[in-house]
Amino acid sequence: MMELSRFLFVACFLLVSSEVLTGRVVEREDFEFLLLAHFWPTASCVYFHNEGKGCYVPPAVKGWTIHGLWPSIPGTEKPDYCNDSMKFNYNEIQDLSQRLAVNWPCYEEGVSKTELWEHEWTKHGTCAYSLPILQGELRFFNQTLNLHDKINITKILAASGILPSTEKKYLPMDIFNALKKGVGKIPNFTCIKDKKTEWTHLEQIWLCYDKQLQPMDCPGVAQSKLFFQSKAEKEMPVSSKSYFQDCPHSGSIYYYPLPTQ
Ligand SMILES: *[C@@H]1O[C@H](CO)[C@@H](O)[C@H](O)[C@H]1NC(C)=O
Ligand SMILES: *[C@@H]1O[C@H](CO)[C@@H](O)[C@H](O)[C@H]1NC(C)=O
Ligand SMILES: *[C@@H]1O[C@H](CO)[C@@H](O)[C@H](O)[C@H]1NC(C)=O
Ligand SMILES: *[C@@H]1O[C@H](CO)[C@@H](O)[C@H](O)[C@H]1NC(C)=O
Repeated sequence: MMELSRFLFVACFLLVSSEVLTGRVVEREDFEFLLLAHFWPTASCVYFHNEGKGCYVPPAVKGWTIHGLWPSIPGTEKPDYCNDSMKFNYNEIQDLSQRLAVNWPCYEEGVSKTELWEHEWTKHGTCAYSLPILQGELRFFNQTLNLHDKINITKILAASGILPSTEKKYLPMDIFNALKKGVGKIPNFTCIKDKKTEWTHLEQIWLCYDKQLQPMDCPGVAQSKLFFQSKAEKEMPVSSKSYFQDCPHSGSIYYYPLPTQ
């Protein structure tokens, strides 16, 4: 009897929590930190070329640009698409147009310049609403640009000798250490493989912020888990071989220069 009532209690609790997470109304305060994702334009083009699409990097782009600012819960890709009623309206962020064009462009050729902003607003901006400093399009986009302005990733990598190159390749661990040194916090990043050349490129760099928009360690990363000794590696499931998504566990990657313009 005792066991049964405990079981019922647990089952009911799980039902309620999963409804909160997956139901139509996502609790908008339901995130723990913010993830600022940056693109390296050349690697972003690898993505579009892999998809059979054209890519265009505006000449004004000189370095890392914004992918998005994502309200996040550690270990998940949630929350997302928090409020269908908050439709994207470009007019609300028109005052930011110059900054957006240089720091937050979409590289897919032939699509509307607002495409990435609309996607980022709908998927992530609507989930930041519980934080007053990020409420509404203007605050959300402006604060994201402000965070991006405070950090020069190109410079941070260069300070550790990591410069865009057509020849030299870099170990993911060296990129991790350069970022950790320059940012002062634990970063995350991703790689992408060019289907044609089979070369792996550094693609995105993710930096984490708390709800006061102060830099913080990206959660869930233990330095010891980043890479594994080759002997131990054999026993690891494929998914845990490299902490950095799609980056090789051993071996180096390209940080290829921007397209010549
Ligand atoms: C969704 O956004 C609309 C428009 O801003 C607002 O009126 C509504 O209260 C929001 N819904 C929820 C569940 O927060
Ligand atoms: C963007 O944020 C900055 C810093 O908080 C502020 O000075 C500026 O007025 C904001 N811009 C707009 C268009 O709201
Ligand atoms: C970032 O740093 C690089 C390398 O030092 C420099 O060339 C570039 O102008 C800087 N970008 C901005 C926006 O200050
Ligand atoms: C680090 O980024 C990779 C790439 O998306 C992701 O799979 C992984 O979950 C991230 N790790 C943490 C702790 O956020």
